[in-house]
Amino acid sequence: MHAQLEELRGRALAELDGVVTEEALQAFRVKYLGKKGELTAVMKGVGSLPPEERPRLGQVVNSIRDLLDERLEAAQIEIRNRVTAERLQSERLDVSLPGRQYPRGTKHPVTLVIEEVSEIFAGLGFQVAEGPEVELDYYNFEALNFPKDHPARDMQDTFFVENNLLLRTHTSPVQIRTMLKHAPPVRVIAPGTVYRCDSDATHSPMFHQIEGFMVDKRITFADLKGILTIFVTQYFGKGIGVRLRPSFFPFTEPSAEVDIACVICKGKGCRVCKQSGWLEILGAGMVDPEVFRHVQYDPESVTGFAFGMGIERIAMLKYGISDMRLLFENDLRFLRQF
Ligand code: PHE
Repeated sequence: MHAQLEELRGRALAELDGVVTEEALQAFRVKYLGKKGELTAVMKGVGSLPPEERPRLGQVVNSIRDLLDERLEAAQIEIRNRVTAERLQSERLDVSLPGRQYPRGTKHPVTLVIEEVSEIFAGLGFQVAEGPEVELDYYNFEALNFPKDHPARDMQDTFFVENNLLLRTHTSPVQIRTMLKHAPPVRVIAPGTVYRCDSDATHSPMFHQIEGFMVDKRITFADLKGILTIFVTQYFGKGIGVRLRPSFFPFTEPSAEVDIACVICKGKGCRVCKQSGWLEILGAGMVDPEVFRHVQYDPESVTGFAFGMGIERIAMLKYGISDMRLLFENDLRFLRQF
């Protein structure tokens, strides 16, 4: 039995030398030290020996077991170290390598105008409000004092979704929604997308407007002109002339169209301003008492002004863009310029 143990010991140690993976190590452990392992089998055999021989052989078996345990542990550490070293080598990071460049987008000029205009009005105490693009006829027309047979209600201009539901044709319904929610005074700016059935070099079926309105005690036409002049000065620059022409909107009385001196020729007359020296930038007026009645504001105690400007038009003037369609084609060579 002694000789058998010696043989086992030599064989096991030799075999362990060839073990280079964790899996092989595990198999080795099972083969010799496992419940059904070779050394365990010998151990069980010790019980059938004469009692006087048992302690000595038991000792030998135990010392082999301890030796194998020890070598196994050493082999395991060695294997783990080697695996780690290999991983460090193969997954090596060059921390001095420059990072990957992800292409960064730029803001669309329409977004830029919305942000800059909103910021100017925020500085004048206006708060930003929004409304839905799919709108009820009531807010888009009825409450804004459009008579039932007004041409703006025609299928020509308005995209109808269903009977009383449409794509808003302007941002003015936000006036109604805001005033229904808030008692006066209000001072609001409302940028957003609007839709009209119209398409050529200067019209797009989808475009953007910024609505502005202010309602309080004793607001006058002079406040409207003052606020708009401050806006034009801050946005287009000092000394840009502002001109108001009488106009008509169902929801304002009196109404005006507002021109600025042509930013291209400074008023001398050019192709962009069609030799007039002036460019129309927005519609405006004093809120019609009929509108106040729809939102339960008392037209005897408050007055207000409202205006609405086309954002694409402002962007074209500000950045010298000649064709509105450029704003919607999303050609990156164009958009990257902003
Ligand atoms: N909603 C008008 C339009 O789209 C513009 C406007 C707004 C006019 C507010 C007066 C007051 O043409």
